[in-house]
Amino acid sequence: MKATDWESHYVSGDTPWEKGEPSPGLVDFLETGVAVPGQTVCVPGCGTGHDVRAWAGAGLECLGVDMAPSAVRMAGERTDRRVLKAEFRCMDFLADPVPRQFDWLFEHTLFCAIQPDRRPDYLAAILRWLKPGGRFLAVHYMIPDTDGPPFGTTPEEVESLFSPHFELVRQWVPRSYPNRTGLERCYLWDRSIVSKKD
Ligand SMILES: C[S@@+](CC[C@H](N)C(=O)[O-])C[C@H]1O[C@@H](n2cnc3c(N)ncnc32)[C@H](O)[C@@H]1O
Repeated sequence: MKATDWESHYVSGDTPWEKGEPSPGLVDFLETGVAVPGQTVCVPGCGTGHDVRAWAGAGLECLGVDMAPSAVRMAGERTDRRVLKAEFRCMDFLADPVPRQFDWLFEHTLFCAIQPDRRPDYLAAILRWLKPGGRFLAVHYMIPDTDGPPFGTTPEEVESLFSPHFELVRQWVPRSYPNRTGLERCYLWDRSIVSKKD
């Protein structure tokens, strides 16, 4: 299957995932105060940076990573306009060397964007980028599609992939954008208890 040319999507404006605001599920999560100002977070596949700006607004030190140069440029410009502080880098989250490890990783529509046969690489990247004892918050798209992106997943697949490496703190159906209501599921994973596999 041909890899998606994400940069072309941004250049042509063909970005149906772009909602102009952060994930509603993330906004509600940040209001709980579980993520503490001063902690660090990386948002891989950050697009134009709405979610990064939500984390920055909650006082965390943020790095947004995306492989599409135009997304990274737009993310930086929009963040500067909002007078928020966050760093953005053009990187391949799955393949590039890790610049530093983070207290938090936040996933929102990267897992469903990559080819399903690269999900083991995605898991390996999450384990590399997260500090020991860090937390991984994911908003997964629970759709049946196999001809993506977006590529769907199931609770069974998500749990069997991540549970050998993390303790599941909580999972829930979040508030969503209107066209995704009921189709998303949040998972909060903790890496304090590291399994024998790692
Ligand atoms: C469906 S878009 C979602 C963007 C953003 N999370 C949002 O919800 O608006 C997927 C994003 O992941 C980026 N991406 C795909 N594969 C990537 C990789 N291996 N490393 C970094 N970014 C990647 C794409 O460039 C694109 O911006």
